[in-house]
Amino acid sequence: MSGINYSEKIPNNVNLESDRTLQRALEHWQPRFLQWWHEMGPTDFEKADVYLRTAVSVDAGGWAHYGAVKMPEYRWGIFLAGAVPERKIGFGDAMGQPVWQQVPGEYRSTLRRLIVTQGDTEPASVEQQRLLGHTCPSLYDLRNLFQVNVEEGRHLWAMVYLLHAYFGRDGREEAEELLARHSGDSDKPRILTTFNEPVSDWLSFYCFTYFTDRDGKYQLKSFAESAFDPLSRTCRFMLTEEAHHMFVGETGISRVVKRTLEVMKELGTDDPARIRAHGAVDLPLLQKYLNFWCSSSLDLFGSEISSNSAANFASGMKGRPDETQYQDHVLRNASFKLVTPEGEQEVPLLNALNEVMRESYLKDCEIGLKRWNRQIERAGFDLRLALPSSRFRRSIGAWAGLPVDPEGRLIDKSLYEKNLGNWIPSDTDRAFVHSLMHKVAEPGRMAAWIAPPERGINNLPVEYEYVKLH
Ligand SMILES: [Fe+2]
Ligand SMILES: [Fe+2]
Repeated sequence: MSGINYSEKIPNNVNLESDRTLQRALEHWQPRFLQWWHEMGPTDFEKADVYLRTAVSVDAGGWAHYGAVKMPEYRWGIFLAGAVPERKIGFGDAMGQPVWQQVPGEYRSTLRRLIVTQGDTEPASVEQQRLLGHTCPSLYDLRNLFQVNVEEGRHLWAMVYLLHAYFGRDGREEAEELLARHSGDSDKPRILTTFNEPVSDWLSFYCFTYFTDRDGKYQLKSFAESAFDPLSRTCRFMLTEEAHHMFVGETGISRVVKRTLEVMKELGTDDPARIRAHGAVDLPLLQKYLNFWCSSSLDLFGSEISSNSAANFASGMKGRPDETQYQDHVLRNASFKLVTPEGEQEVPLLNALNEVMRESYLKDCEIGLKRWNRQIERAGFDLRLALPSSRFRRSIGAWAGLPVDPEGRLIDKSLYEKNLGNWIPSDTDRAFVHSLMHKVAEPGRMAAWIAPPERGINNLPVEYEYVKLH
């Protein structure tokens, strides 16, 4: 009955060839996935030949196999990073015990929820970005967009594999639901707010891959620590792909900054109106986009105080990113100083792990900021880009809904409302950014608002025809 040649069609290292149950589940799901891709993915580019990397195995030579592919024919595979022999739980109350190869009954519904929430973000981002191809600033960028898209598709496969292989019928039902919810849908939206925000211009895309994919990196890092070994191994492999997504964001913003600085020098001004008239993104406008996407992504870490995160840590389900860098892995006697609108509070560290994770995420976010500011400094301009305070524009946690400015000061509500359009993109700003978005599809050519990349993909020149549109 099988229409699928497993090892060919679905590259994997999970013994799919000999696992009948898993085959049956995937046989049912795969056509639905392809249908979803056809309806909700980059539909208008299905005939294009795209220079993509495909993971065909987990070793150094196999995880990035390059070649021209039509996206619907992409080989979405299932890969776990290599098993760590005799791996032990690295944190929480069960620290030191052997990791779990099956889901413990008492943690079943929580683990399923965690996997579904992670899984939901993967197809959501593909949906959010589905029309961007029409306004690509270059073929190089178009290829990067599609690379990110197919890999988010593969990340969905990774989570669906876990649901199918370890959660029985409930898992199969959840896997269907992952294709039934859609980004921005009023009846069946995606689970997390950021993944329902439209990504309809390339400046948003670079900010999304910089900030939101980085949230993904931190979630994956915390799951890579999990006592549930298949989840840990799946996420460790996903992290190798995630790095490229953030590269796209960081270099994308850096190229926007570079082009803007060229225009500023050419015109001898930092006047936003003149820079815009010249068809470039003024730096205060970029700052607003950074404010928007950073604050939106910060909510993804959840409330500062969370009994769920405490329970997930204590049980071994979800650790801290880079758990080994810490001294104390049990945290039963540790406390954390938290600043809330009511003042400083001392809380059990176990309950403040979302905040711990958010802080390490923000530190990671600073890296790009430093780089972009160096570019600006070298060009001889005074302006500096900055991350907004983690209290700014929050919808979740102690600072939710409070009038806080990007520097983190609690201010008068009317002042906040009056100024919000100076801090995040206004309708006029968005309309301007949209007005810059025109498809540039000649090999090597770039849109006027962005500088070319320093190098091409996989040692190919920037001028290479990365997408053959036909
Ligand atoms: Fe992902
Ligand atoms: Fe990603």
